[in-house]
Amino acid sequence: MKALVIYESMFGNTRAIAEAVRDGLATHATVDLANVNQLDMEDAGHADLMVVGGPTHVHGMTRARTREEAVTWTTDPSKHLTLEPDAPGRGIRDWSDDPMTVVAPMFAAFATRADVPILLSGNAAAQIDRALRHRGSRRVAESENFLVTKENRLQDDELDRARAWGESLAVQASRLLTTVDRGADEG
Ligand SMILES: Cc1cc2nc3c(=O)[nH]c(=O)nc-3n(C[C@H](O)[C@H](O)[C@H](O)COP(=O)(O)O)c2cc1C
Repeated sequence: MKALVIYESMFGNTRAIAEAVRDGLATHATVDLANVNQLDMEDAGHADLMVVGGPTHVHGMTRARTREEAVTWTTDPSKHLTLEPDAPGRGIRDWSDDPMTVVAPMFAAFATRADVPILLSGNAAAQIDRALRHRGSRRVAESENFLVTKENRLQDDELDRARAWGESLAVQASRLLTTVDRGADEG
């Protein structure tokens, strides 16, 4: 099975989660990892499973103006935040809205967000999930949220949780692929 992890990240937390998900997936699948601004259409076309994630900004997926706001945070020395080199450009919302976007037959969505009740934080993961379902991809697992502190650092254990989640996605997607293949053979 081929998996592709696609992420967006301003300060590096979502990238770190995406890398841990990639490592988990790699226990059962061939995996590529790509920032949404560095995506190779050909890789996307060959994936059986896409795992797509981004940061939560203003209760949902990022927009150009929230990404600009994030850039200004990195210029405030008291915040100790560094801008990701691949951050400038588009976000997951722009990618999923783009008619040229190729989606894999299966997907799972994730987001990073503040460690507050989800009614207050918003749920970008659910928005990504909805966008990919609307594009005709099949969800292999419920969307997942990974938490950052109010200083924008990943909470302890989130990388371990992301790795375990990635592994569980690979198992689930492989199972679905086998079922589909068997159905095709029998049909
Ligand atoms: C402009 C802006 C708006 C944000 N709005 C929210 C929000 O509504 N809910 C939330 O949980 N986190 C919010 N955050 C915190 C981000 O979710 C957090 O910075 C992000 O998960 C870090 O991921 P990254 O390091 O990959 O950019 C916001 C951050 C920025 C910069």
